[in-house]
Amino acid sequence: TERSFVMIKPDGVSRQLVGKIISRFEERGYKLVAIKSLTPSPALAKEHYSDLSARPFYGGLVKYITSGTPVVAMVWEGKDVIKQGRRIVGATNPLDAHPGSIRGQYSVSVGRNLIHASDAFDSATKEIGLWFAPEELSEYEVGQISKPVMRTE
Ligand code: GTP
Ligand code: MG
Repeated sequence: TERSFVMIKPDGVSRQLVGKIISRFEERGYKLVAIKSLTPSPALAKEHYSDLSARPFYGGLVKYITSGTPVVAMVWEGKDVIKQGRRIVGATNPLDAHPGSIRGQYSVSVGRNLIHASDAFDSATKEIGLWFAPEELSEYEVGQISKPVMRTE
């Protein structure tokens, strides 16, 4: 099984789509192993998108991610979650995104496309390590709650 880093961007939070977006992953059967809401520092945002540093939109992208409206950073686990996560999210440009995808259903602009998902195993590993400390990742079984602790006296 594998893990992917998924982040609801500031436009997803400001448009109050957090619950709907999380439901897409839950309903597909993926397991949420980490989640937090934060406004990333410029250093974190720059490192997260470091592969795009030469692109003309890089400065605007970092500014958007660090605007002050928080992002929701998550780690999802399950079979093929990296590839499937990209399909659930949809193409980068909402014009090319399948209408059943998150971007295809809720966005119209490449610069405000609501959500990020890791694009490969190596980037997922890098991004999970960048956004989360190891102790922030949970291990548990889905579909059951842990047994109650019995009193001994
Ligand atoms: P992420 O999941 O956010 O990494 O998107 P992606 O993997 O689908 O696309 P990519 O990594 O190539 O680009 C990262 C982000 O930069 C995109 O999600 C867009 O928000 C933004 N971006 C990419 N291409 C363009 C562009 O041509 N113009 C603008 N304004 N933004 C772009
Ligand atoms: Mg990307």
